[in-house]
Amino acid sequence: MNNTPSLSAAMKLSSKLPDVGTSIFTQMSVLAAQYQAVNLGQGFPGFACDPLLPRLAYEHMQAGHNQYAPMAGLPQLRQETARLTAAYMGYSYDADTEVTITSGATEALYAVISAVVQPEDEVIVFDPCYDSYVPAILANGGQPVHIPLTYPGYAIDWDKVKRLVTSKTRALLLNSPHNPSGRMLTEADIKALKSITRDSNLLIISDEVYAHIVFDGRPHLSVASDPELAMRSFVIGSYGKTLHLTGWKVGYVLAPAALSAELRKFHQYITFCTSTPLQHAIADYLAQKPNLVQDLQDLYTAKRNLFIRLMANSRFEGIPVQGSYFQLYHYGKISDAPDTEFCKWLIEKHGVAAIPTSVFYRDKTDHKVVRFCFAKTDEELQLAAERLCKI
Ligand SMILES: Cc1ncc(COP(=O)(O)O)c(C=O)c1O
Repeated sequence: MNNTPSLSAAMKLSSKLPDVGTSIFTQMSVLAAQYQAVNLGQGFPGFACDPLLPRLAYEHMQAGHNQYAPMAGLPQLRQETARLTAAYMGYSYDADTEVTITSGATEALYAVISAVVQPEDEVIVFDPCYDSYVPAILANGGQPVHIPLTYPGYAIDWDKVKRLVTSKTRALLLNSPHNPSGRMLTEADIKALKSITRDSNLLIISDEVYAHIVFDGRPHLSVASDPELAMRSFVIGSYGKTLHLTGWKVGYVLAPAALSAELRKFHQYITFCTSTPLQHAIADYLAQKPNLVQDLQDLYTAKRNLFIRLMANSRFEGIPVQGSYFQLYHYGKISDAPDTEFCKWLIEKHGVAAIPTSVFYRDKTDHKVVRFCFAKTDEELQLAAERLCKI
């Protein structure tokens, strides 16, 4: 007789997120490890952060900074964050009431969406979109309204947005520089956003985690570069991206005081606070590195240029990137296989992992485009390109 206790039918969970499975990033990374492929799939740096950062973290742990940090974030880090972002804002964020330190941008997005979205509210998202947005909207009873970006320019079709904004629309969720395309908001986008939101109660959630990774002298245009838009915006950033330490999970939200107060109610009960010694280390580091943003841009510009140069003799066709550490390539000259099949084949037969872009679309639109992450060592980029050029 089997005495193993089992769940009764009534105890079994009816999934609140029935469509969520193991993410494509995990699937491709598992396959990449199995085939010892060069992993240009998952979006994290393949090189170490500045050794000063772990040293500072260790010093703060030794100094006894090991208990809860203030709920909204360490004051020093909030001040450094306000200073770092002030350069491209049309609004001066108050470090006490308008900057909140979170456990990465993922928690920031979840806390902001929880604070904003009431059941039945609609939130406009732009496909291809980052995978954490829709589950967070659905978990809060909201309804994502998907609008595809144009192809191959990945621009926002503002006429479509105008047509789909209704009395139920609560927020627009934007991402610039955009993952996976690297496309950045333009002055025309800011103007369109102002005209659509003026005289409305619409809020803007702006995922700007790649704000500091931009190319060719083109400045990052935050939604909050405009004071009118800043008043209705939550701007989200990630030190994981800026400092090459995605595993530390330290991010932030900038928002006017009344919006920040609501966001903090959720941050308080999702995690209460973010790791104390890591916040100290990042605050110290930012204070010591006035050229941080320029250095970051130089580093990633060199990597992007190297990868593009190495890929020039391949049959892949690049789509120009403006920001972020991703490069899209169209593979139509090589294969007409669906992009997920193509990516599996790339790993198994050619030893390089990429991410299919169809997974970023609700309806799995397949433009035969794959995403490579070039935040890797030069050796990895060289080896990957050598293999890709042979196809
Ligand atoms: C567009 C976008 N938003 C948010 C995140 C999550 O950032 P974090 O690692 O700080 O949670 C990522 C990470 O890849 C991302 O690409």
